[in-house]
Amino acid sequence: MNHRDAVGGLWDEIGELQLRFLVAQGLEPGHRLLDVGCGSFRAGVRLLRYLDPSHYFGLDANAGLIEAGLKHEVGPEGLLERLPRENLLVTALFEAHRFGVLFDVALAQSVFTHLTANQIRRCLVELPRAMKPGAVLWATFFECPEGLPEEQPLRHEPGGITTFLDQDPFHYREEDLRRIAAGLPWEITKIGAWGHPRDQRMLRLVRAG
Ligand SMILES: C[S@@+](CC[C@H](N)C(=O)[O-])C[C@H]1O[C@@H](n2cnc3c(N)ncnc32)[C@H](O)[C@@H]1O
Repeated sequence: MNHRDAVGGLWDEIGELQLRFLVAQGLEPGHRLLDVGCGSFRAGVRLLRYLDPSHYFGLDANAGLIEAGLKHEVGPEGLLERLPRENLLVTALFEAHRFGVLFDVALAQSVFTHLTANQIRRCLVELPRAMKPGAVLWATFFECPEGLPEEQPLRHEPGGITTFLDQDPFHYREEDLRRIAAGLPWEITKIGAWGHPRDQRMLRLVRAG
């Protein structure tokens, strides 16, 4: 599988969607942005062009996807000089504090969709240590609406993806995510539909001051 398909394909559509959404929500070129589960830079190539040099940061568990993205996407687009190597981290533990900066914005697109509740908890424990008070984490998830049985496979339209309670790709209820974040410094708002072509929903998590 190539690096574009490995992050879900729809390279241009979902890449553009992420950039447009973040800009519409107030992303400025001078912000420092963390791409949580950056993969092979589907959003990254666009964010690197938009943000000031060295203001894009990415972490991912998969070193191969990062390398493929650098070689086949960031390099050919002439963007390598805007992305110092120390702005990238291979980790499955979301230890964003290792960058040694405080972020204005973070994005986790199509990441919670692949994580267990305890992995999401780890992410939500770690990120506040690396975010400014008032900074926003935008995170997408597959929603199991109230009233539908969570233990049944759930097919999402558009996109035709089937999600599960206990198997990747996962679905969650809004209340599940609020419970996972309980006691952590986040103020959570469900944005819901945001034009994602596979029915992923958007959550806004503001790092409480
Ligand atoms: C569907 S891809 C999305 C990539 C990227 N956000 C995008 O929209 O193109 C999911 C990404 O999450 C990464 N990932 C999964 N579990 C992770 C973890 N525990 N820590 C960091 N990254 C993780 C995968 O390696 C993969 O690159």
